[in-house]
Amino acid sequence: MKIAVLPGDGIGTEIVAEAVRVLGVLDLKLEMETALVGGAAYEAHGHPLPESTLKLAKESDAVLFGAVGDWKYDKLDRPLRPEQAILGLRKNLGLFANFRPAICYEQLVGASSLKPELISGLDILIIRELTGDIYFGAPRGRRTAVDGHFPGADEAFDTMRYSRPEVERIAHVAFQAARKRSKRVTSVDKANVLETFQFWKDIVTEVGKEYPDVELDHMYVDNAAMQLVKAPKKFDVVVTGNMFGDILSDEAAMLTGSIGMLPSASLNSSNQGLYEPSHGSAPDIAGKGVANPLATILSAAMMLRFSLNQPEAAARIESAVQQVLASGLRTGDIWSEGTKRVGTREMGDAVVAA
Ligand code: NAI
Ligand code: MG
Repeated sequence: MKIAVLPGDGIGTEIVAEAVRVLGVLDLKLEMETALVGGAAYEAHGHPLPESTLKLAKESDAVLFGAVGDWKYDKLDRPLRPEQAILGLRKNLGLFANFRPAICYEQLVGASSLKPELISGLDILIIRELTGDIYFGAPRGRRTAVDGHFPGADEAFDTMRYSRPEVERIAHVAFQAARKRSKRVTSVDKANVLETFQFWKDIVTEVGKEYPDVELDHMYVDNAAMQLVKAPKKFDVVVTGNMFGDILSDEAAMLTGSIGMLPSASLNSSNQGLYEPSHGSAPDIAGKGVANPLATILSAAMMLRFSLNQPEAAARIESAVQQVLASGLRTGDIWSEGTKRVGTREMGDAVVAA
């Protein structure tokens, strides 16, 4: 089993190091090879996703990714910015399904901004489509308006776009995931206003007929945003487009306490995947040894489960994380009165020991 390890920038290197140590103590034959990505790759090779890094990712069974980005690259042309590396990897590996589980660990109920009874026992799965929607639709650009409310003024535009196969495949992923859970899918759209999402809703409904054992409902995205903080436990699997998924998954993340706890998986049709924490490179705390490595460690567990077919090893990691939380160790982002504050390395040590 070959894993491409791409730590990236900022806290990426610190947190990935801990996940690699955790993987190292499992009784598995894992071949791990590290490569530069993001700003680190730009510094060394002049490009955020060098050919050699992409090649390694393509020939691996899975990619373990840290995070990329830093404010100091904000002035670079868009194609050279660190964040382009993630888009390039998604595109080249055909990663179209982004899984973001939002699980509230019992020990962290108090760390959420919501009332304990709303989130205690929370376990929902947001599935975000990754290849389509307004993020990639053409045409896009800037021009002088010829019509609209201000003809003759400067304007900018993007195009929201989905093809039938894109919607069908993400719908199948959602229904199949729901079969392994509580058999409920909520498809989130804006079909009342957007043609793209009426199309989405029609196709998800069609695909749903192939899964009579799974209950399907539809919700407008504005209502979904509200329900997620009002009664999040009503959801089980939520499937939605690229932009709505980007926003709702961050919202769901905060229900669970800290972005430092949230893993993610991005999969293609052959279950090859990229696994990364949901957070970014956190330049504000990079190099200080205080970042929470648990999101990355839990991403490694998802990698073992989804791409490497090692569910027992994945479960061992997840239960080790729970044990460590139960023992009262906390990084700064999840610290509360009465718990013990530790750094990245000590948290990694504790998971390795557990
Ligand atoms: P961020 O997720 O890096 O940080 C947001 C806040 O959460 C910061 O206060 C940070 O200190 C904290 N935080 C994040 N991860 C943490 C952890 N593991 N432990 C403790 N605290 C943690 O988002 P931000 O600040 O908006 O972006 C910073 C850079 O990261 C930008 O360049 C952005 O483009 C990039 N980014 C990269 C992503 C990726 O690599 N997939 C995703 C999101 C942002
Ligand atoms: Mg986001």
